[in-house]
Amino acid sequence: MSTTDDIKQRLDIVDVVSQYVKLTKSGRSYKAACPFHIEKTASFFVFPEKQSWHCFGACATGGDIFTFVMKKEGIDFGQALRLLAERANVTLTYKTAQVTAEDTARQDHLFKLNEVAAEYYHYLLLHDEEAGAARKYAEGRGLSPAVIDSFQLGFSPGKWDGLLTYVAKAGYRDDEMLAVGLTVQRETGGFYDRFRNRLMFPIRDAKGRVVGFGGRALDDSIPKYLNSPQSLLFDKSSIIYGIERARGAIRQNDCVVITEGYMDTLAAHQFGFENTVASMGTALTEKQISILRKLTRNIIVALDADAAGLEATTRSITTIDQQIPKEHWLAWIEPKTYSELVKYEIQVVEIVGGKDPDEIIRNSPEKWAALLKESQPIIDFTLKKEIANINKDSSKDKSALVSKFLPILSHIDDSVRRAHYVEKLSRLLGLDERFVRDALFELQAREKKYGAASGSKVIKNYANRAPSSRHIEEYLLALLLQFSDLREEGIKISADYFEHPENKDILLKWQGNAGADSFGADIDPALKEFYDHLISLGGQLPPSLHQSKREREYALNDCINRLLEGHIKNLEIKKKLILSEEKDRGDTESQLAKLIEHGILESQQLHDVFKKRGRLFSRIKGV
Ligand code: CTP
Ligand code: MN
Repeated sequence: MSTTDDIKQRLDIVDVVSQYVKLTKSGRSYKAACPFHIEKTASFFVFPEKQSWHCFGACATGGDIFTFVMKKEGIDFGQALRLLAERANVTLTYKTAQVTAEDTARQDHLFKLNEVAAEYYHYLLLHDEEAGAARKYAEGRGLSPAVIDSFQLGFSPGKWDGLLTYVAKAGYRDDEMLAVGLTVQRETGGFYDRFRNRLMFPIRDAKGRVVGFGGRALDDSIPKYLNSPQSLLFDKSSIIYGIERARGAIRQNDCVVITEGYMDTLAAHQFGFENTVASMGTALTEKQISILRKLTRNIIVALDADAAGLEATTRSITTIDQQIPKEHWLAWIEPKTYSELVKYEIQVVEIVGGKDPDEIIRNSPEKWAALLKESQPIIDFTLKKEIANINKDSSKDKSALVSKFLPILSHIDDSVRRAHYVEKLSRLLGLDERFVRDALFELQAREKKYGAASGSKVIKNYANRAPSSRHIEEYLLALLLQFSDLREEGIKISADYFEHPENKDILLKWQGNAGADSFGADIDPALKEFYDHLISLGGQLPPSLHQSKREREYALNDCINRLLEGHIKNLEIKKKLILSEEKDRGDTESQLAKLIEHGILESQQLHDVFKKRGRLFSRIKGV
């Protein structure tokens, strides 16, 4: 969650505004005389459900808590962010907590210690007499000398102080070995080697630094794998095995394959599938995904075929589903056609013809290549699995399956994709498509009526516009910050198309800053980290944009069009929802207020609606 979202979630706009203005309840909203201009009739509204405000009077403007405080206090976004963060008890993560040089030096020293250990284990595997069984084991598993070398596999000797004695001689202290988990402290005092008589896998971060180790037993002893404990360097939730070897290939193929295990990744690399990494047996975490996402938007999940594996797949799917905002499922500049949209979704490989990728790859690399090609979008994969599990002659089963899938479908924001899956679900179940569509509408209506505290999920989703808006906004800003020759175009962009206040703030500041070069230095410290993020996004833009001005102009225009499209679409959907929501209540005042609040009066498409509703129209004109 972004800091702004976090703050928004913790603060109620009614409380915040009440600090400045005396609000009175009016239906589901609150109203007051507008604090921004002098007026007799109250035309300032606060909408708790949407956590927004609007002045229908002379201001004819509105926004969220941030814009309110900015306007009221006469401060900029960064200052408002700090002020509200303090109120919400949210710690801003910008550069106050500087890591001291001392900390960095200590960390480097510990990384070096791990490096020394990796070299020690590796040397033993290649040359030590005692490592005979380990060499045999590695050979038996089909590990090539090249892979053993490039992944620096090793052997930890059977004695209790092999590593300990070696690194002590190299000048490392007991507390340092303990800190990185290479040794274990005895209750009676003293230390011993954590890893003994195991095939060692150094685990590196994306920068290539050894953060920890996995050690496999050479026989059936338990545990099969022993891993470094959580430490200053080893954070399980963010580790991706193989990332430093796979980076290049991931970028080159614009695709990453995530497997479960060390052995899967090694087999893949050995047979030329170098864009492969491992999640190390756990469900994928948000951090892992965000690291991979920086390299590619195309993610293929390949988990084991056994029951646990399947469960893990579902688990991972849920994780991915929940943790990657949908915009990240698509390439930044997402292609418009349906087939391409689907292509960019997270894909799942079905493991058939072996128990895991390791086995399949070693049996037949061609088969593995074919399976990768046949990977399917998560929704299709899940649908297929679910359908295989039901009795298609049972109406009860069918109905249960439809109920299970509708919530997923209702959260697909892209209407073409949603329609596609409505059709597919209907077809696979032999149901009339109209039935599924109606059921989906019903669900959405129900969600709307009984939905969670602040209105339904459906409304909220729509109200926040297609979730990709944040991403497009960031992309657009990254373009502007990266390429000064886009300034002429960039100056003309309307900030109204931007939904997210921090993005809007940066856009406005950039537009108002004549010498774009000094811009970075002027940026508010509260926004510095975010600004740096945008700059680093800019650094990751494809080379074609760097080479051709036309390409970047095209990209910029594409972003603008997308934002505009989202803006209009959003207004349209809100209009429908609001009209239907208020219809039964015959509450024209609140209906009107809401329409205005959402800027719908500006939407041309509304013309029709108002024509049909002559009575309402005449009232609007009277405002
Ligand atoms: N794992 C672990 N600890 C265990 C078992 C598994 O940390 N006791 C992690 C390891 O990263 C392992 C991954 O989960 O690579 C997948 O487990 P599994 O499929 O059992 O191992 P493989 O890598 O396939 O190893 P092998 O082929 O030797 O069984
Ligand atoms: Mn396995």
